[in-house]
Amino acid sequence: MALYRTYRPRTFDEVIGQEHITKTLENMIMNGHIGHAYLFTGTRGTGKTSVAKIFARAVNCLSPVHGSPCGKCANCLKLQQDNDINIIEMDAASNNKVDDIREIREKVRFMPVDVKYKVYIIDEVHMLTDSAFNALLKTLEEPPKHVIFILATTEVHKLPQTILSRCVRFDFRLVSVSALIEHLRKIFDKEKVECDEESLKLIATAGEGSVRDTLSIADSIASYCQGKITKEETLRILGTTDYNLNLEFFGYLKEREVGGILALIDRMEKDGKNLAVFSKDVSRHARNLLVIKTCENASKILNLPDDVFALFKQQADTFDEKDLIRYMQVFSAAENELRYTLSVRLLLETTCLTAITGMDAKKN
Ligand SMILES: Nc1ncnc2c1ncn2[C@@H]1O[C@H](COP(=O)(O)OP(=O)(O)OP(=O)(O)O)[C@@H](O)[C@H]1O
Ligand SMILES: [Mg+2]
Ligand SMILES: [Zn+2]
Repeated sequence: MALYRTYRPRTFDEVIGQEHITKTLENMIMNGHIGHAYLFTGTRGTGKTSVAKIFARAVNCLSPVHGSPCGKCANCLKLQQDNDINIIEMDAASNNKVDDIREIREKVRFMPVDVKYKVYIIDEVHMLTDSAFNALLKTLEEPPKHVIFILATTEVHKLPQTILSRCVRFDFRLVSVSALIEHLRKIFDKEKVECDEESLKLIATAGEGSVRDTLSIADSIASYCQGKITKEETLRILGTTDYNLNLEFFGYLKEREVGGILALIDRMEKDGKNLAVFSKDVSRHARNLLVIKTCENASKILNLPDDVFALFKQQADTFDEKDLIRYMQVFSAAENELRYTLSVRLLLETTCLTAITGMDAKKN
């Protein structure tokens, strides 16, 4: 099982880097000041869903420990099960219609089963349509006593003011490198993975403040290194792709050589290369070529060694600006998905094919 699933926090203490939020929520539980609508905002993988679930258990726990769920009482045991009917998770990205929200409005009237509160967690809430927002607003205006809403979003600026003003808002922060190092160290200890200090730092930095990203990078490196992580391997796996790989890859893109692309991806995977990182390199290379094509002072902007610049320039000349822009779009759009998908390779391959067929479609 993936590390980020195994290590989902179960108490507020286990949540890292969000003390400003967890302290407040603990106090709310201890003082019994429980609101009906919360809004959790912040970057992906910083703890929004995890904290929402801890809170949902804490409000129902029969004997909370310093504001966190005890994990032992009948209610905690019940709510620890993944699909207990009292904690309703809805993904607004795929249920964004007014009817989806109406359904909630009808169901909120029913009492919780065996516990005190029903908790609705609405993820990616910014995806709701205008009429769905209006329907939600009606519910938020007169919430039944036994219901709590937790809305979560990575894009808070897309929410209407009317919704914002109904919610108690918590902004999840990017987690510091030092907190991530600390966290990784504990997890590697438990997993009996050896890892030197420098690799810890490299991995934590590569996670860019997201705990989930950090753990999934750690996962791929640990499994490649088979339990003993070294700085050399970490650098190699994390490091930006050797520019020769980029040149080769773009050569195949240009010629629409599907076989070449699939073989290259296969080779990289066997070398333990992080394919999500590679996808980022692809957008970057497309951008470099575009800079060369369009900017007078490209060599200054890119600041590459002369011989490398010459090679890039040679390749840039073979491409259309439009295609380069498309590659940037297609590959940067895939970057995020690549971090979360269970089949990175398949998604990367599909992305490459999209990039190629897009060219076909244009030419025909
Ligand atoms: N603050 C944190 N402390 C400890 N672990 C965390 C934290 N944030 C994220 N994680 C880890 O990342 C995993 C995913 O976190 P979670 O689902 O809570 O993130 P999220 O903010 O809801 O992300 P998204 O915006 O993608 O929904 C958790 O299972 C846990 O392993
Ligand atoms: Mg989430
Ligand atoms: Zn309990």
